[in-house]
Parts: sequence; structure tokens; C-alpha cells
Amino acid sequence: MSKTSSHATSVIDGVDIAEEISKFVKLKPSKNELLGLCPFHTEDTPSFYVNPQKRLFYCFGCQAGGNVINFRAKIQGLSNADAIEALGKDYNIKLSGSFIDHQSHYQVLETALHLYQNTLKQSIEAQNYLQSRDLTAGSIQAFKIGYAPNGWQNLAGLKQINSKHAKELGLIIDNAKGGYDRFRHRIMFPIYTHHGSLVGFGGRSLGDEKPKYINSSESALYNKSRILFGLNQALQNQQKQLILVEGYMDVISLHQAGFTGAVASLGTAFTASHFQLAAKYAESIVFCFDGDEAGQKAADKTFHTILPLVRDQISCYFLTMPRGEDPDSFIKNNGIEAFRAKLTAARPFSTHLLEHYPLSSNPSLEEKAQQYDHLQKLLNHMPNSILKRLIIEQIPQLSNNHKPIRASKSSEKPNHNMRFIELAFSYPELIISQKDSLKQYLAILPSTVQLAIQRVLSNPQTSLAGFLTEENISFTQNTHAVNQAHDMTEQMALHEISGLLTHYQMIAVEQKIQEHMAMIEQNINAKESSEILQKLLIVKHGLIKKKSLLAKSEDL
Ligand code: UTP
Ligand code: MN
Repeated sequence: MSKTSSHATSVIDGVDIAEEISKFVKLKPSKNELLGLCPFHTEDTPSFYVNPQKRLFYCFGCQAGGNVINFRAKIQGLSNADAIEALGKDYNIKLSGSFIDHQSHYQVLETALHLYQNTLKQSIEAQNYLQSRDLTAGSIQAFKIGYAPNGWQNLAGLKQINSKHAKELGLIIDNAKGGYDRFRHRIMFPIYTHHGSLVGFGGRSLGDEKPKYINSSESALYNKSRILFGLNQALQNQQKQLILVEGYMDVISLHQAGFTGAVASLGTAFTASHFQLAAKYAESIVFCFDGDEAGQKAADKTFHTILPLVRDQISCYFLTMPRGEDPDSFIKNNGIEAFRAKLTAARPFSTHLLEHYPLSSNPSLEEKAQQYDHLQKLLNHMPNSILKRLIIEQIPQLSNNHKPIRASKSSEKPNHNMRFIELAFSYPELIISQKDSLKQYLAILPSTVQLAIQRVLSNPQTSLAGFLTEENISFTQNTHAVNQAHDMTEQMALHEISGLLTHYQMIAVEQKIQEHMAMIEQNINAKESSEILQKLLIVKHGLIKKKSLLAKSEDL
């Protein structure tokens, strides 16, 4: 990482964005955020939000947004580098190369990495272990593999470590004496984002000690559903085909064998967010599963996760290792060419789908009907695409009751509920971070949308398809919008959710207005009702304004 970007991290970590922005904008608390008039465009209703936890600002009016550095740069017309320097000065953040007491999270991670890499050089036992796993010096260097020595204070005892941050990162465990090392006597795999910034570690025991792997905690920096281990290297190698595998060792072993598209979703299921991340860069993904029961379960889960996400621009394939093998052991036992052959023969998603409910050798019409019915349900979860049409063409029995692509009439109203649900499952982190404000809206949301929000909050891993199947909701209306979701940034998604919420507010307010008008007409509590009506009309006016602002910023 360059000096500037580590300085950027120090500044972002070290400056309270709310404090900084308050110097320029009058901010008022609004739920978890702060709200004010945007300094970057003229407005008379506040739509400029500051999120102190996320250390971000965003204007729904003009879509200006970013971190504290971007704010200072924009408001004073500085370059980002100059803004970093100015902020460093203002807030007394040392930006020299030397370590200071106030190490940022990022610096703590770098210090730990340094320690692990150095101790590997001194540990014959750790080196022997890596050798027994056939890792070359090149791989050890490329993946910056290290070794956390045995002992309780190797990291915790370092003077320059900011122990508060180290604890937040899950590198040090708190105790009465100020903390001890969490990773001891383990091979350490640093975890990088696809942009190449260090966010955490996975540590493997050298022998059979349990747990085999421990991972540093999720933190402000490390969000498991946004990280694919190995993706930074895959991108450096300009890989257009990603091979999704289960573990650290699989990734490293495949890279070492020349398959530099190998990535892994480390100890968590492959989620919609992982797919969106992969789809940003790849033209194809081969999902590669271990040849055990867990691997089969993972394959099925992944299939249902990607079902509502697949689109023509990215082809998906499934590959299962022979029983008892993972990609790492497969290559060791069978060689590189055998793995290449496996890759070439990987099963296309469409085949996987069509064979999802295999028929017996001599099926009765009833069995066939049942199978087509299953398939129809799966297809209902797939966004419209050429691929979907091609799959339907394979089974004439299905084509009849399937509308052609873009059959939705222009007069048909967009399906707000379905769109909201789809966004909720595509951006679970967003729903989680907006939890408190969403809860205020719950009462006015349709029951399926409420249900979706609650499901995402209670179990963010649920896939859209899983939810729809469980709740028996069919995905038929106007689903063409769905496949556009993956190109969206989180901010765009937030923007759209905000538009949908305004829509529901509008419906609720309209309904109240009608009620009170009826009451006035019938002369029931007429005075009170007309006062309430006045207020409702003001609220409605505000909503109309908000709607038009949102629509305007969409056109930008
Ligand atoms: P595996 O058990 O398949 O391990 O777990 P592996 O990757 O083949 O490891 P080796 O070859 O025995 O060294 C797959 C992945 O699941 C996560 C890790 O990310 C691991 O790479 N995992 C596994 C954990 O987080 N904790 C565990 O205890 C085990
Ligand atoms: Mn393995």
C-alpha cells in the first residue's frame, strides 16, 4: 500500500467526519445520521446526510458523497492529497512514516503482518509445515503468508500497537492484564480486499488442533460478504474467469498451479454480495465444490443464491471434486492438466438447472408434470435474460405458460414491493445499517416487504430465491428491473430504497387524507379533522418535493 493511501486511512480513521462537516454545514441529528442543507447545491429542504459510524456523507439531492477527505477536497477545491495534508494538520494526525501511539486499524494490521512474516523466517517448524503443503517460496511471498508464534504477548506486547484497535480487529483478546494474542502458533494468511487493502487474517493450526482455522473478526474494515480471498491477485492477473473455491489453501494452491482466477468466500456461504463483486470483474465463474456432503450442500445453496442474479454477461458453471477431494488435494493427486480438464468440463448453470429435478428412466406423465412444475418455479426466480429464454426453449411444455421477455405492458405499474424485496436481499448490509430508520417505516409497508426486511435482519444470508420460495411469492411481475441491480453501487441502491419509502409514505398519507376528507364531509369531528388535514397536506407537499428531487438526481 502506498504512503498516500495509508495516510488516507489514518485521516479517515482519525477525523470525526461529523465534526469536520459541522464547520461548514449546520447538522441536525436524524436517527443514526446527521442531516443538513447540502453545501454543494442549492436546496431548501435538507437532503445532505452524514453518517458518523460509516464515516461517510451523501446528498440525496445532488448525489455528492464520500469520506471526509472527499468532503474537504470538494468544499475547498483541493486535490485529495492536499486535503489529506490539510486535515492531518487540522486534527493533529501525524502523517510521517514512523509509528505513533495512535495507530489506525490499518496500521495495526500492517504491524501484525510484519511480525508474522518475520517470525515465519525464524520458525523451522512453520516453514516445514508450508513445505509439507507444497507451497513454494513464490506463493509464500505472493500471498504474504506468515506465522504467528506461540506465546501470549508477541503482538500484544508490541509498544506501537494500539490495543483498542487490535482488540476491535480480533487480533488481541482483552483480559485484566490488558490483552493477549488471539493467534498463536498458526500459519497466517492475510486477507485483502480486491483493491488490495489489508483487512484481516485467517490463521491455520499447524497440526490437528481445533479449530483448524480462526479468522480475525469482522470490523469497520473487514466485511466478510464483501471479500473474496484471492480476488486482488486475480484482478492483477486480469483474470476474466474466476474459480470460486472453499478455502485458503485451495486458492493458493490453484494460483501456484497457474489458475490465478481462484478466489474463496472464506468460511461463509457465497452470498449475493459476493456474486455482485465477482460479476463486476468476471465474464465467467466456475463454482468449485469439495467432494463431500458439505460441498454438495454448498453447491445447492449457491445455486439458489445465484438463481435470481444470473444474467447474460456472466456465465456460471458448477464443478464438484471427486469424493474426498478439494481442489488443493485434487491438483496434488492428479496434476494440473487433470484440473484443467475438470474446469473445461464444468457443468453450465443451465444444465444444472434443467437437471435439478432429474426424471426417472421411464417417467409417467405425472412425474413429468411434477418435474416441469418444479422447473417452472425455479425459472420464475430467474430474471429475464436471453439465457432464460434459451432454457425455456429446451422444454416446449414450459414455453406455453411463460410470457415472452419484456411482456410487461407500459401501462403496468412497476412492482414496488418486489423491487424493494429484491433490493433488500441484494444489499443486506444496507438494510442492516438502515435498520433503525427502516423500523420507523415498518407500519406503512406492505406485509411482504415487512417480512423481507425482518428476514434480512434476522438472517442476512437468506437468498432472495429462498425467501420467495418459503413465502410462496411468485416472481412474475415486471422482473426486468431485477437484473440491473448488480451494477448498482450501494449508494444507488440506498437512493432507490429511499424513493420506494417515499412512495409508501405517499400512499399512507393519501389514505389519511381521504379518511379525513370523508370525515369532514360527514361532519364528524370536522374541526379537528380539518386541522389534521391541513397538516397532512403539508406532509404531502413535502413528499411531492422529495419525490421530484429524487427523480431529478436520478436523471443526473
Ligand atoms: P476446509 O475444512 O475445507 O479446509 O475449510 P481447507 O481449506 O481444505 O484447509 P486445509 O487444506 O485442511 O488446510 C474450508 C474453509 O472454511 C473455513 C476456512 O476459510 C477454510 O479455508 N474454515 C474451515 C474456518 O473458517 N474454520 C474452520 O475451522 C474450518
Ligand atoms: Mn484442503
